[in-house]
Amino acid sequence: MTAERAKITPKKLFAMKQEKKKITALTAYDFLCASMLEESQVDLILVGDSLAMVFQGKPNTLEVSVDEMVYHTRCVSRAVKNALVVADMPFLSYHITPEEALRNAGKLIRTGGAEAVKIEGGTDVCPTIDRIVKAGIPVVGHIGLTPQDILTSGGYFVQGISDSDAEQIIADAHAVQKAGAFAIVLECIPAQLAKKISSQLHIPTIGIGAGKQCDGQILVTHDLLGMFKKFKPKFLKQYANIHDTSVAAIKQYADDVRNGAYPSDEHSY
Ligand code: KIV
Repeated sequence: MTAERAKITPKKLFAMKQEKKKITALTAYDFLCASMLEESQVDLILVGDSLAMVFQGKPNTLEVSVDEMVYHTRCVSRAVKNALVVADMPFLSYHITPEEALRNAGKLIRTGGAEAVKIEGGTDVCPTIDRIVKAGIPVVGHIGLTPQDILTSGGYFVQGISDSDAEQIIADAHAVQKAGAFAIVLECIPAQLAKKISSQLHIPTIGIGAGKQCDGQILVTHDLLGMFKKFKPKFLKQYANIHDTSVAAIKQYADDVRNGAYPSDEHSY
């Protein structure tokens, strides 16, 4: 029997960093996946805008709307009791004015049932983080590789390789913390840089492609389960091959229907 566990809150994640307990985080876009993460006692469930690529089949994360994020967040939050549900703020939902960002964050909280929002960007988005946090909505930052910048960056590359880029990422991390974020995602940066940032910040760092010294780790669930085969970056460890298992089962079903093996008497009334 698994022990009853307490509700995860931003404060609890902060305490986990102090106690050197690693934070586990994964993505979910629907009720079923969120139920599995909750049963697995994952600490933080992110309704990531990666759903644009993984769920909607789009080429990048730019087209997903606030209303779509609200819909998926509602599906996820219905399944979750103890994990902390964080919803991504999609492209252009927080760039126009801090007031508009606050209104959109409010929709993810009040209609979606999220308990925090995540915002990509460093120093530039700090006034927005400050506005949202001051209204009582916890914020997770996200620096390093920021997929919403795909049009200007031209691709998904490791960030912070040169000394000047690394310095900028460190400055961004401190600025995001100062603006009031309670945790920060570090995406695709060298392990040594992530280690340095994690030791300098008092808020937890959650790495994806950022090495083992972060205070926690996050992956896209569909990637770790081997469901989304289009994407296999170096940092990904595939823990299952659900795509191939599912295709084999579906083919078997189709063969059984075609040759009359299903339904048998056992599956008939
Ligand atoms: O959108 C997403 O799924 C994310 C994680 C990969 C960090 O931002």
